[in-house]
Amino acid sequence: MFNSKFGSIPKFYVRAPGRVNIIGEHIDYCGYSVLPIAIEQDMLIAVEPVKTHTIQLANTNSLYPDFSTSANNIQIDKTKPVWHNYFLCGFKGIQEHFGLSNLTGMNCLVDGNIPPSSGLSSSSALVCCAGLVTLTALGMSLSKVELAEICAKSERYIGTEGGGMDQSISFLAEEGTAKLIEFSPLRATDVKLPSGAVFVIANSCVEMNKAATSYFNIRVTECRLAAKLLAKYKNLPWDEVLRLEEVQARLGVSLEDMLLTTEDALHPEPYSPEEICRCLEISLEQLRTQILSPNTQDVLHFKLYQRAKHVYSEAARVLRFKNLCEEAPDNVVQLLGEIMNQSHASCRDMYECSCPELDRLVDVCRQFGAEGSRLTGAGWGGCTVSIVPADKLPSFLASVQEAYYQRSDGSSVPQTPSVFATKPGGGALVFLEA
Ligand code: GLA
Repeated sequence: MFNSKFGSIPKFYVRAPGRVNIIGEHIDYCGYSVLPIAIEQDMLIAVEPVKTHTIQLANTNSLYPDFSTSANNIQIDKTKPVWHNYFLCGFKGIQEHFGLSNLTGMNCLVDGNIPPSSGLSSSSALVCCAGLVTLTALGMSLSKVELAEICAKSERYIGTEGGGMDQSISFLAEEGTAKLIEFSPLRATDVKLPSGAVFVIANSCVEMNKAATSYFNIRVTECRLAAKLLAKYKNLPWDEVLRLEEVQARLGVSLEDMLLTTEDALHPEPYSPEEICRCLEISLEQLRTQILSPNTQDVLHFKLYQRAKHVYSEAARVLRFKNLCEEAPDNVVQLLGEIMNQSHASCRDMYECSCPELDRLVDVCRQFGAEGSRLTGAGWGGCTVSIVPADKLPSFLASVQEAYYQRSDGSSVPQTPSVFATKPGGGALVFLEA
């Protein structure tokens, strides 16, 4: 296909994987550690650097139209979540990092098998793949940590204020091990998952593109506001605080203490913008221009108590999960399952990032043998991840397939593959032509 599109052959190929987050949802952008694995599904780009200044992009999937642009005038339109913008984010990240101007272009054919808008990070995989493509085409090098940080930052050109989990695991993953990803500074350490269990991904078939709605940024904003109100309550310099983790670090207390402080300092009733301004002693104008993001300007209710409770309790669950894996890897499947179930409940009730289909799917998964099941990724649709004892896997896959995907008329929802086992895969790679 590359040959018929561009009349030449690729010089090199790059792949970058999607991910499934085992535990630690919506806490990376609050500064807390998460525990994802890379999946085998990936983005793959065939590349030929050219001498002109044009970037030409094509996709093996005809749903995604061809696109071309000048390499020296990259425009990323936040109002349209079109596929090529994710490529441009990766390109622009590298261009800006090195402060390059007058770049030459490339011909790229993009292929991918990560289900889109399903919480498996197809968009970040494309950003990371494009970043590594650009770096390779320039003949330059960076560490994986630097690449992950650059791509996490540059994906925000899309308009969503994601954390760094997806880009970090796409670069730092290693086959056979989950990674505890920690931030500031970014680092990844191996966490061996229990051998007697399999992690199974199931797609709710509700598509959620986090760039197409403001749900995601509203949560980021609520966490930022909660951090500021908690900091103010504790007489910390609240205007310097952006993330819930910073409040804990400045106070030097445990996550359990932060849960208690949340109960003392915040109330469960939603906060209006006016109340937030009263608490922080700022004007509405200051709130809008200095704290709120462009697509959260019109939000009327902020649930600060619930969001902070989720974040602090989820951060504690990640550490419990990791400790259990390390202490008794062969005897903890049931306990790990319970922690995953608690995570789902918190995402559903406190963070409100689930949806009826995801709630039904986790119930179906638990009913047919999962020790635990939860939504994974941003939520509001997309996939669940379940921990299933290895000996129950075949019956689990067959039963979930039948119970969730079979329609009453006997036909099944046309989405393949919709429920599949996964194991920790490797990170992004460059393949050079011999
Ligand atoms: C998206 C973001 C991540 C993370 C998850 C939720 O995938 O890109 O940074 O916040 O949602 O855990």
